[in-house]
Amino acid sequence: MTDAAGVEHGGMSPAGAFARVVELFRSDQARAAPPLTAQLTALWSERARTFGRRCVYDLSVAEEAFDGITKFQEAELFPLLQAQLSSRTKRVLDYGCGAGRFSAALRELTDADFCVGFDLCPELIAMAQSNGSDPRTHFVTGTPRQFFRTLQCKFDLIWIATVLGGIPDSDLTTLAGDLASALARGGLLFFAENTAPEDPANTFWRSRPVAWYERLFSARGIRTGRVGAYTSCGTEVSVFAGKKGA
Ligand SMILES: C[S@@+](CC[C@H](N)C(=O)[O-])C[C@H]1O[C@@H](n2cnc3c(N)ncnc32)[C@H](O)[C@@H]1O
Repeated sequence: MTDAAGVEHGGMSPAGAFARVVELFRSDQARAAPPLTAQLTALWSERARTFGRRCVYDLSVAEEAFDGITKFQEAELFPLLQAQLSSRTKRVLDYGCGAGRFSAALRELTDADFCVGFDLCPELIAMAQSNGSDPRTHFVTGTPRQFFRTLQCKFDLIWIATVLGGIPDSDLTTLAGDLASALARGGLLFFAENTAPEDPANTFWRSRPVAWYERLFSARGIRTGRVGAYTSCGTEVSVFAGKKGA
């Protein structure tokens, strides 16, 4: 069975197809991870064990203020996202979803058939799974390589909230190619990343020029531009959107 987006479901419903993706993905996970991925996973696991759910944000934000920060980000990002959505969104990927702060809300906002939250940090995915209550939002963990290799469908929306800044340039070029391949034709890539001038003291998080991100994805068939910006913890965060061309 092939759906309107040309995605092969092998006679299964989209939900059944997704269950198969997860099954394939899990069975493949035992393979060795490349060293950089292993390092990033160790780093995020350590942060998650030490700081809990607030490890996904600037650590100056206290636990009591954390839900307020998520609401602030939703208020900044969701209207910009809605302005970019032009066609029916059936499948959503929340890439680098952390503890799944946005995943279920994204599924609801877009009325998608399902949302997949992927993150390489098992501790954060465990938090997302225990907090999540939307039956159509699913969380998976493992190496990005195996995630993309075993995907059986393409997404109409890929959402990335401050993930790329934690990934070195060398790895980002591979990731950008994988993300472009995972996006359906006409699908929307929507992401927010730090773009203020780089603080040399901050070795943990990269801030890159707007044009750098625009080029990264435009070179891979997703015409990407800045659609907004906000300030968070005194730092500029730019919001980008791009559609995958024919
Ligand atoms: C700053 S946190 C943001 C998490 C989430 N998007 C949010 O806003 O709550 C960055 C997240 O990216 C994940 N991450 C880092 N490198 C990754 C990669 N190469 N692939 C997928 N996730 C990654 C981390 O585990 C972490 O959860």
